[in-house]
Amino acid sequence: MTDIQTAPKTGSNADVAAGVAQYLTPVVHELIALAVNGKQAHWHVRGANFIAVHELLDEVVAHAQGWSDLAAERVVALGLPIDGRLATVASKTGAENPKLGFLPYDEAIAGVVAQIDVATEKVNAAIDGLAELDPTSQDVAIEIRRGLDKDRWFLFSHIAVK
Ligand SMILES: [Fe+2]
Repeated sequence: MTDIQTAPKTGSNADVAAGVAQYLTPVVHELIALAVNGKQAHWHVRGANFIAVHELLDEVVAHAQGWSDLAAERVVALGLPIDGRLATVASKTGAENPKLGFLPYDEAIAGVVAQIDVATEKVNAAIDGLAELDPTSQDVAIEIRRGLDKDRWFLFSHIAVK
């Protein structure tokens, strides 16, 4: 059997991998929480603009799932495992548990926007912390930030008056 290292030798070392995991793991946790709670909102939103908000929430969920995968696989590509288990996510997320049951569309949107804001805090910390440590991983965080900003805008515009 060929003796091959699990992590690439160039552009990577144990300290860089550990630092990347430190910054991207909270991002993964918040994006998984956003995906789960975004689906809850998708199922329970009611009121004006129902179909638009219902469908938009599904897009937000799909994006959050894709970005959690992107961030998690960056950590794994550097040779470290990631803990994306449900119990871990539930214990680590800073997002509030959404209200149970049906919600008027403005409350449902405000709740998901608040979750995006929590995720964005973790993404911002990753952008700052990874700038010198590993610009390639910082690029992952920047891509996620750009997408979260857009989804926040799409959601918020349903309830903003100005
Ligand atoms: Fe659905």
